[in-house]
Order: sequence, then structure tokens, then C-alpha cells
Amino acid sequence: MEETIKRLQIALGVLLIALLVVFITGAALIISYKPEAPVAAKPAPGTSGTETTAPAPAALDAVAQKGESLFKNNCAACHSAGDDVVVGPGLKGISKRAPSKDWLYKWIHNSSAVVASGDAYGNQIFNKFNKIPMQSFPDLANEDIDAILKYLDAQGG
Ligand code: HEC
Repeated sequence: MEETIKRLQIALGVLLIALLVVFITGAALIISYKPEAPVAAKPAPGTSGTETTAPAPAALDAVAQKGESLFKNNCAACHSAGDDVVVGPGLKGISKRAPSKDWLYKWIHNSSAVVASGDAYGNQIFNKFNKIPMQSFPDLANEDIDAILKYLDAQGG
């Protein structure tokens, strides 16, 4: 009888120790648990998140990207897309400054013909730039010119 009680006591002791270990590990886990800091909602691309400041300039769309490469290949040797004069004037804001879109088509296709026609704006800019004739681009389609202008418009001004 006494043997049985002793064994029971030992078994109970072991059980208690096991419970204690489980309890302590559990408590340690609970104490060390840190919930992840809540992830702030990321603002959508192109927006500022706070919505109080002006949105960043929109990325160039496909047409303006085409315009950018046309500009770099054909015009950048003489023109910046900003305000700086290279050989010719910086073309920032050109859509607002030039007499019309039609004028721009004609000028870019053959500026000498525009100057020769007696066009006032054309002669003024030609004289201002020491009568350096601008290269003609008869092969640029109007839609290519539209793309270049879209790219230039995206530069602001
Ligand atoms: C070889 C140099 C040269 C190249 C290349 C050139 N330009 Fe010009 N461009 C000029 C010069 C110089 C003027 C100033 C007017 C003049 O002297 O005929 C001018 C004037 C202009 C103007 C009028 C600017 C204004 O302020 O009103 C526009 C628009 C223009 N260029 C567009 C273009 C575009 C678009 C291209 C490319 C497709 C191009 N140019 C390529 C030299 C060049």
C-alpha cells in the first residue's frame, strides 16, 4: 500500500514539474510576443498620401514616351526641353508660345518655307537666333510632332 502511495506521489511530482515547465514557457512566449506594428496604408502611386500637397507630375504616357525618344533623336542636338538655349531656344512651353499647332507642323516640316512666306512669328524667332536656319523634318508625321509636343508639354511651362 505504502509503495503505491509513494509511486503516486512521485508521479504527481513529475506531473507538477511538467505543468510548471509548460506554464513558464507559455508565460515567456506571451511576454516576448510583440504584435507587428500596423502597416500604414501605402499611398497609391502618383498621390502624396496626405492629399494636402500637389500630386507628383504624372509619369509620361506611351505617346509622350514616343515623343521623348523622337525629341532626343531629332531635336535635342539644338534644343533643350527646358528653358536653356542650345542652338535654338529651349522648347518648354512651346505649345502656348507658338502661333498654332498648324504653325508648328509647318515650321518643323520646313522652317525656311515659313520664314520665306513672311510669317511674322517665324521671322522674329529666325532673326533672334541670328538667322540660323533650323533643320527641316519633312518625314515627321503630324502625329510624331503631336507626340513631341505632348512630351514637351509634360515638362511644364
Ligand atoms: C540644327 C539645329 C536644330 C535642330 C536639329 C532642330 N531645331 Fe528647332 N530651331 C533651331 C533654331 C536655330 C531655331 C530658332 C529659329 C531659327 O533660327 O530658325 C529653332 C526654332 C524652333 C522652334 C520655334 C521656337 C520658339 O521659341 O518659337 C520650334 C517649335 C522648333 N525649333 C522645334 C524643333 C523640333 C520639334 C525639332 C526636332 C524635330 C527641332 N526643332 C530641331 C534649330 C534646330
